[in-house]
Amino acid sequence: MSDVETDLYANADFLADPYPYYARMRAAGPVHSVRTDEYEHAWLVVGHEEGRAVLADPRFAKNWRTLPGQADSGSAAIKYNMLEMDGEDHTRLRKLISREFTPRRIEALRPRVRQITGELLDAMVPAGRADLVDALAFPLPMTVICELIGVPDLDREAFRAMSAAVVSTLGEKEDPDAFGTMGAYLAELIATKRRTPGEDLLSALIAARDDDLGRLSSDELIGMAFLLLVAGHETTVNLIGNGVRALLDHPDQLAALKADFGLLDAAVEEMLRYEGPVENATYRFARERVTVAGRVIEAGETVLVSLAGAGRDGARHPAPDTFDIRREPRGHLAFGHGAHFCIGAPLARMEGRIAIRALLERCPGLAPDPDGAAPEWVPGLLIRGARRLPVRW
Ligand code: HEM
Repeated sequence: MSDVETDLYANADFLADPYPYYARMRAAGPVHSVRTDEYEHAWLVVGHEEGRAVLADPRFAKNWRTLPGQADSGSAAIKYNMLEMDGEDHTRLRKLISREFTPRRIEALRPRVRQITGELLDAMVPAGRADLVDALAFPLPMTVICELIGVPDLDREAFRAMSAAVVSTLGEKEDPDAFGTMGAYLAELIATKRRTPGEDLLSALIAARDDDLGRLSSDELIGMAFLLLVAGHETTVNLIGNGVRALLDHPDQLAALKADFGLLDAAVEEMLRYEGPVENATYRFARERVTVAGRVIEAGETVLVSLAGAGRDGARHPAPDTFDIRREPRGHLAFGHGAHFCIGAPLARMEGRIAIRALLERCPGLAPDPDGAAPEWVPGLLIRGARRLPVRW
């Protein structure tokens, strides 16, 4: 296949099951030219070692504004976020929030995450069937991140629709105003919080914007709120959704986990490797000519690291298409690698473990709902997941 099939992201079969495509590409080599919504030509890296190296290589920039021929004019405020920054700017922004995401701080949230999970399951269980995404996988991380940031009253359904439009590149095409709508909504949210500050992360970020130390610009404040709210839920919803789907598709693994919750931590790592929520890391741009696995990537060219491709690389993970909760899955790339490694990883892991264990304990007969609709996959190249997961118990 190599460079022949470049239009992967317009292919419905690929959207439904991209893994055989990644396998065929990997067999031909770790780096391929593809077309995306935004780029006529981008390099897609599908091997684990090569992807890991690109993610940590400073010759690949995130901040496209610094590249020759790119002007920093009029881009949407939400794009002034850590994933579009390098070097000192990135470090400055990451430092502003890193204290909130230490393992100790996240551990302190455990009782509240358990409580929210319990309440969601109390509401869900009596019906005997549910869409697991609506009933648990979406509201849990959304509630947690809203409370952590300090916007508990956020209109979650409205935000969910805006967020879906922004993260799917197809959605962006259908809705070119998605970025502006999201930015305006967040500016309003920040204005309200500024009038009524509290002991929360958003209030602290607003104070950092408003003091004289220059730690955060107005656009960066909007970008930070955007990244935390979107990264805080678009991903974890699919850790829970994809993870439960993998268990339901592999009844032996489901039975093993129910029989021994000592396997839970490894099971969640295996879910992240086997079908992680982030299909491709965000775009990177070559600052100079770089050769990756014999492919010459010219200065200014765009690179995508396929985390889904890396997770199924047999050179790193033997029998990569086998879902095995007893394997040693450490070292997967589901949370990225290098300077932009996911700051929310401890939180996501905790939410995933609590949700999946509580679900299996409360619904021991959990099974797919045969009357449920076929999965509708999240479009675009960023997120791997289904919008619905109909289950019964
Ligand atoms: C299972 C759930 C999650 C997965 C699989 C995931 C995955 C990732 C990945 C792959 C990256 C790096 C992207 C790149 O380098 O292009 C990333 C970055 C990031 N994630 Fe997560 N994430 C998850 C949950 C969360 C949560 C709960 C938060 C909480 C707020 C969060 C916040 C962030 C932030 C702020 C960054 C940017 C870090 C930086 O640029 O330095 N993520 N995540």
